Amino acid sequence: MAAQQRLFLALQPDAQVREALRRSVPAAMRVGRRVPTDNLHLTLHFLGGCNGEQQQALCQVASRVQARGGQITLSRLAVWRGPRVQVLEPWSGRVPAWLQALHHALGRGLEGAGFRLESRRYQPHVTLARKCPPHPDARLAPLRLRFQDFVLMVSESGPGGVTYRVVERWPLLQPHRGARPSVDMK
Ligand code: 2AM
Repeated sequence: MAAQQRLFLALQPDAQVREALRRSVPAAMRVGRRVPTDNLHLTLHFLGGCNGEQQQALCQVASRVQARGGQITLSRLAVWRGPRVQVLEPWSGRVPAWLQALHHALGRGLEGAGFRLESRRYQPHVTLARKCPPHPDARLAPLRLRFQDFVLMVSESGPGGVTYRVVERWPLLQPHRGARPSVDMK
């Protein structure tokens, strides 16, 4: 069988923002096993195991997408009960229009190229910890993240744990001039 790699499309905050995300959780609210700071990201589409041919098709889809960048404000710290992950997500749960458009455009392209997508509702979030016991939601100081590109990441397991490596990066178009601030501001 051809070698497979675990792939996903994501938005990657820069190193400074990843550090701010790590520091955003007060000590009293830290639960579970924390995700390494370098791995912090927002998943756009999770593809799972892909061979080289599928990776090529995926890159072709991503390179054809014409979507705008923008910003998202995260302030809800929550533990999702099913997957037992602690996440930081928009307080309102609403997806900013630019991100909905990007997610949708990628999804259409991926389906057209024969990928099967996950059917759940898209909920942008940063996973901060895994294997978490239930914990009440908390409202944190809002963190505003801006994105001008998106990436293809590969998940690699090594002796030190799982690392996410950026395979390729694609620019997003400039946000609309005079675009209203993110819809999920306080
Ligand atoms: P994450 O930990 O990187 O956020 C595959 O199901 C992966 O998709 C999960 O491990 C999770 O990755 C991400 N995910 C889970 N539920 C999601 C949702 N509702 N919307 C977007 N991404 C999700």
